[in-house]
Amino acid sequence: MQLNIKIKVKGWGKMPNQFYLSTRLYFGAGARRELTNFLQAKDRVLVITDRGVVESSTLLKIEEILEESGNSREIYSDIVPNPRAATVEKALEFARDFGATAIIALGGGSPLDVAKMVSVLLTNGGRLEEYQWAGKPLQVPGIPLYALPTTAGTGSEVTRTAVIVDRNTKKGIVSEKLLPVAAFIDPELMLTLPPFITAITGMDALTHAIEALVARKSNPFTDAWAAEAIKLLGQWLRKAFAVGDDLVAREQVAIASSLAGAAMDQAGLGIVHALAGPLSSYYDVPHGLANAVLLPWGMNFNLVAVPEKYALIAHLLGKGVGESIDVAAREAVMAVHELLSDLELPANLASYLQKEEDIAQFAGEAAAMFLAKANPRVVTPEACKGILQKVLKG
Ligand SMILES: [Fe+2]
Repeated sequence: MQLNIKIKVKGWGKMPNQFYLSTRLYFGAGARRELTNFLQAKDRVLVITDRGVVESSTLLKIEEILEESGNSREIYSDIVPNPRAATVEKALEFARDFGATAIIALGGGSPLDVAKMVSVLLTNGGRLEEYQWAGKPLQVPGIPLYALPTTAGTGSEVTRTAVIVDRNTKKGIVSEKLLPVAAFIDPELMLTLPPFITAITGMDALTHAIEALVARKSNPFTDAWAAEAIKLLGQWLRKAFAVGDDLVAREQVAIASSLAGAAMDQAGLGIVHALAGPLSSYYDVPHGLANAVLLPWGMNFNLVAVPEKYALIAHLLGKGVGESIDVAAREAVMAVHELLSDLELPANLASYLQKEEDIAQFAGEAAAMFLAKANPRVVTPEACKGILQKVLKG
């Protein structure tokens, strides 16, 4: 593939920049078995997961490891999608009663984010909302946290953020102390994911990578991770969706998800995630589905701000080679439309719309979100309203 795009080099101002990831990453089939090198003999291990994982064969794969290591263990699986503050408080109480000294976070973004908060609340004390709303900093590391994602999408295993819904708002807590000690990116834990979940979590990962690549705080380190994620998802997400037991496809998509997660954690996100927030908080639209449907519209809005970056995205998706920057940039949007169609995802979310007035409210909330500030083009309530009308009215 010929890449002949000059990306503008930015000055970095007076603040030094950094790329920081303390989490040790193990990846590939069977990576989960490395967990045994981390657990201490006397550890009381709490597995935080969800009911879907408990009902599948995935939990057994972790229980086998814990059986061999001989650790005392408990399973806590009362975690639902878009977890709320009360979910964290209940899991925290369970962890305290058990006397947990290590946590295994097993699942998608929801169990991982709850597990992150339980780990640090056990050592820092206090209530979730002190850190969530008053922005109190976490002072000390949590108890050791080991992340084993069972979906390839959120990237939570490599982010400094835990997202918990409170007062109908998705509120992130950001701290380096939320990074797991180690993450085990094992495609064997993802083989039974249904096609629709594979599609929407994969599109969440693609949204992370694309928003990170064009974000205002993007830099050469985040660009490298984001670009590789886009390339891998373009090459392998369709296969993972269509042939769920293809271990290579699962592995490549899982690696892409972690690459995209670290990139977005450090570069920021943008208008798509800002708009997805109220759709998930008020209408319970699955996060990945909201992003998937919003992504081409958000890209279309941003094209004029950073066309050279969108031309690069087109090239990474195998489109626009030999075209001018502007033509190639538009082909990036077409490439995402084609991917959505191949993944059999809907073109709009009209079936979720409850009241026409919600559109203006959601637009105002999205434009005011912290996430929107990282977007390469200034995000206004009017721009958000325009996109929401297309997405929610079909
Ligand atoms: Fe996301």
